[in-house]
Amino acid sequence: MTERVVLAYSGGLDTSVAIPYLTERTGAEVVAVAVDVGQGGEDLGLIRERALACGAAVAEVVDAREEFARDFCLPALRANALYMDRYPLVSALSRPLIVKHLVAAARKHGGTIVSHGCTGKGNDQVRFEVGIGALAPELTVVAPARDYAWTRDKAIAYAEEAGLPIDVSHRSPYSIDQNLWGRAVETGFLEDIWTAPIEGVYAYTADPARPRQPDEVVITFEAGVPVAVDGARLGPYQVIMELNRRAGAAGVGRLDLVEDRLVGIKSREVYEAPGAIALITAHQELENVTVERDLARFKRGVDQRWAELVYDGLWFSPLKGALDAFIDDAQRFVTGEVRLVLHGGRAVVTGRRSDASLYDFGLATYDTGDIFDQSLARGFVELWGLPSRLAAARDRRFS
Ligand code: ARG
Repeated sequence: MTERVVLAYSGGLDTSVAIPYLTERTGAEVVAVAVDVGQGGEDLGLIRERALACGAAVAEVVDAREEFARDFCLPALRANALYMDRYPLVSALSRPLIVKHLVAAARKHGGTIVSHGCTGKGNDQVRFEVGIGALAPELTVVAPARDYAWTRDKAIAYAEEAGLPIDVSHRSPYSIDQNLWGRAVETGFLEDIWTAPIEGVYAYTADPARPRQPDEVVITFEAGVPVAVDGARLGPYQVIMELNRRAGAAGVGRLDLVEDRLVGIKSREVYEAPGAIALITAHQELENVTVERDLARFKRGVDQRWAELVYDGLWFSPLKGALDAFIDDAQRFVTGEVRLVLHGGRAVVTGRRSDASLYDFGLATYDTGDIFDQSLARGFVELWGLPSRLAAARDRRFS
């Protein structure tokens, strides 16, 4: 029986040309799998037809938008996941989901090889291959761009020569990856890290400098999960879409960052993640209100580690799984509402309320109604400072 290679198919030039090229190089039939993670753009039916027209034996399209929102974006939100304190893991989140569907397709259609379009310089090759290794170690991987030194120019020449039904004229100067959680743009003039991005780079956000009325929004959370916007109950996918729209209109979530890739290269990437940044801002503040101090302090370290693991392609690792269990437990009381004002590129918290709040007006107030016994503070400060005083006295003796 002919071998089958399962290709992560986007519908674009590179992966379309990869279909006949993979067949030529490996002798295997191609099973093209396109996964909708909310990237928008072309109709999946058209993408499927193109895969078949390029010679795929099987072409599947998977609408994974709800799954992506629920099982990948929400965990990232609950972890306040920001790599290098800023990047909300847009691409890093979609890869493990795509991996799940590639593996499922391999099982269903008898695939023994998996293929992706990543180069050898980025993080995504790692995320695909480490993920596949965790879920289906029996599968082998071939990455034409990396393993066969396949370039864009070669792909175009090949497409023209083979008369493939793909448009090679619209060449974006950028490499773009986008999904429900945000959008990443790199290459082209952005590789000069002193050159500012132009407005045309952005698609999810309006220019934050453009005059516009502030937009006030209330987000309701239950156990760390956003469940309503302005009182209207929405599923995870809808909540994120709605905040992409509203925060995007206010120019929230733009990011221009030189980041540390796992492979050791520093690269400049421009991101926009309006919904993600608005939601993380609100979620962090609700944690401030509802999570006990020590748990919150510890969680900040866990959150950072979680983001690094996911960035580094370790979604399916034991440590990531264990941190998920910790985060789940820490979210038990993260229930309540946060009000944000979206304006001028910023999402600013202006109010919060929760039945599970640990904020106690009686303890916090400086006005009448104060129930805090200040006389207790004196002894506390004394004991708290005891180790420092002892050490300072010793230092003086030896100086
Ligand atoms: N640097 C980001 C990451 O590693 C995004 C990668 C994809 N970016 C792109 N513009 N194609 O997660």
